[in-house]
Amino acid sequence: MRTQVGIVGAGPAGLLLSHLLHLHGVDSVVLETRSRDYVEKRVRAGVLEHPTTELLRDVGIGDRMGREGLVHSGISLRSDGADNRIAFDELVGRNITVYGQQEVVKDLIGARIAAGGRIEFEVSGTAVHDVTGDAPSVTYTAADGSAQRLDCDVVAGCDGFHGVTRSAVPETSTTRHERTYPFAWLGILAEAGPVHDELIYAHHANGFALYSMRSPEVTRLYLQVSPEEDIGEWPDDRIWGELHTRLALEGEFPMNEGPLLEKSITAMRSSVSEPLRHGRLFLAGDAAHIVPPTGAKGMNLAIADVKLLAEALAALLLEDDSRLAESYSDTALRRVWRAQHFSWFMTSMLHRFPGDDSFGQRLQTSQLRYVATSTAAATSLAENYVGLPFA
Ligand code: FAD
Ligand code: PHB
Repeated sequence: MRTQVGIVGAGPAGLLLSHLLHLHGVDSVVLETRSRDYVEKRVRAGVLEHPTTELLRDVGIGDRMGREGLVHSGISLRSDGADNRIAFDELVGRNITVYGQQEVVKDLIGARIAAGGRIEFEVSGTAVHDVTGDAPSVTYTAADGSAQRLDCDVVAGCDGFHGVTRSAVPETSTTRHERTYPFAWLGILAEAGPVHDELIYAHHANGFALYSMRSPEVTRLYLQVSPEEDIGEWPDDRIWGELHTRLALEGEFPMNEGPLLEKSITAMRSSVSEPLRHGRLFLAGDAAHIVPPTGAKGMNLAIADVKLLAEALAALLLEDDSRLAESYSDTALRRVWRAQHFSWFMTSMLHRFPGDDSFGQRLQTSQLRYVATSTAAATSLAENYVGLPFA
């Protein structure tokens, strides 16, 4: 099989890239190890930045998001039993939309299939070849067990943090910058209507907690736990009890409880592999960089990468103009590092660090107070949270 762009991974990055390339008139094939049903149900991110929603709307993917997404014009930072609202609309005139990542994935798959796009699900043994020559290819085993080869002009590695494309770059040509945090998030999705209109980020002596949602019927909640935590030690009652404690304002937090639809533990780490290009292989999204979820940046960064990448590949493949392809890595990494810093800042301000001394704790309290009382500090947080403009 032949295509212009071989895309590995049908997450938000790979699917949106395929859609944007199609709008430019560039052909692509997407290869995905999981089934369509699995990727359409995988519960992950929920917060779309302002530039993300504008882009999705501009490229015809915003209809359902417009109807079902929950527009939030602020968040609460809760500490010492008090709420401090960061009013995005007043501070920076922009907002965020709460709309599940799997809904974005569903909308993108629907659009690609309606346009005759090619997505191969349930492939295995994906391997990338000859990216430093003129004729790269991807080999894989198709769902029916047949061995396949996809010949292409360019390969886009959109296969997430545990994918294979990054390893096609020799170790001598890449630099990896990493930070691992000494905690994890236990996340639940519950069939329980939210009692609060906006997200609450809570700083508490027992550890961080986050109150989020997916719809008027479903809440999404997180608790800071140890990275070695055994999920078996967290029966539903214990989770609800701890959420009530950490989110309490005065006495109990009046939260609706309900059956759990999902329960999982996510490690917290930051990682960036530089550069994002090696010959005819271009990395985008989690394949190249991950952030701790505290700043809600991962999916938004994946989307920002592929917006740039689609423009660069269209110029390269349609006009033989390689300038944007050459600058792709540097341009994308500027946004990536801003988001890394913001994610680190939110993570450091809100979590309990095991073994932290009183000096570290006082710094944290001071930073929380500063953000709560200074318009300049709150504006900086708001500007980063709603997402800096793409340009
Ligand atoms: P992925 O979504 O990981 O997609 C990669 C795809 O490649 C997958 O479908 C995978 O199955 C496939 N694949 C892997 N290996 C292969 C292979 N060898 N061959 C073919 N296919 C392969 N981000 C936000 O912006 N906001 C949030 O609120 C937020 N909250 C989060 C909460 C949690 C608990 C977690 C875990 C993440 C959160 N994120 C958030 C991060 C966000 O989910 C990711 O950054 C996002 O999924 C990245 O998209 P991607 O397309 O780059 O990678
Ligand atoms: C979510 O709703 O899943 C969510 C919201 C905000 C974050 C992380 C995750 O910072």
